[in-house]
Amino acid sequence: MGNVFVLDHPLIQHKLTYIRSKETGTKEFRELVDEVAGLMAFEITRDLPVEEKTIETPVTTAVTKTLSGKKIGLVPILRAGLGMVDGVLRLIPTAKVGHVGLYRDPETLKPVEYYIKLPSDIQERELIVIDPMLATGGSASDAIASLKKRGATNIKLMCLIAAPEGVELVKKDHPDVDIYLAALDEKLNEKGYIVPGLGDAGDRLYGTK
Ligand code: PRP
Ligand code: URA
Repeated sequence: MGNVFVLDHPLIQHKLTYIRSKETGTKEFRELVDEVAGLMAFEITRDLPVEEKTIETPVTTAVTKTLSGKKIGLVPILRAGLGMVDGVLRLIPTAKVGHVGLYRDPETLKPVEYYIKLPSDIQERELIVIDPMLATGGSASDAIASLKKRGATNIKLMCLIAAPEGVELVKKDHPDVDIYLAALDEKLNEKGYIVPGLGDAGDRLYGTK
C-alpha cells in the first residue's frame, strides 16, 4: 500500500500559512508555492540512490557520493501544477518534464483530459506527478492512470494540500504510489473545494477568476 507523508518541516508549514491566507496576492502566492515546492522536493528525493565516486580534492583523494544516475521525470497537471515545477527543477535540473492537461468539470467534478505530452522514456524514469490540490482525487488518479497506460511503473504524487477523500481515492486506485503532502486538511465542501484549503489554486496562481 502506498504511503502518505505529510512534510511538516517548519519552513514548509510557515510558508503554507501565507499561501492559504486570502490576504496573499498573486505575486506572493506564486513565489511561495515555488519555494514550498523546492522544500518538498528536498524531502521527496531523500531516498534517491547514490553511488561512490573517487575524486581528488585539493588536499587528497576522497571517496564520496553522487546520485547514481536514476532518471527523474516531473509531470505537472495543468494548469496549477505548473506553479510547482520550477521549484522542483532548481533541485533536480536534469529532470525531464511531461505535461498532463486536465480540468475538473464544475458540475460533475469529474476530470476531463485535454492534453498529454510526455518524455519518450517514461517507463525508465521515476515520475513525480505534481498538483497543488488533491481534492476528490479524480484528477490525480486519472493522470496517474494515463501515465501507467503509457508504461510508467514508478510514480510518486506531490501535492500541497489534500482532502481525506482524495488521499483515499489515490490509495485505492494506485496502491503503489507514495503521496507527499504539505498538509492533509479536514474535508471537501459541497462544491468540492478543500476545507480550509487555499481556494482555487489555478486562479490564485494566475490571477484569473
Ligand atoms: C484543480 C487542481 C487539481 C484539481 C483537483 O484543477 O489543480 O488539478 O482541481 O481536484 P480533484 O482532486 O477533485 O480532481 P482545476 O480542475 O481547477 O483546473 P486548473 O488547474 O486548470 O484551474
Ligand atoms: N481545486 C482547487 O484549486 N482547490 C480546491 O480546493 C479543490 C480543487
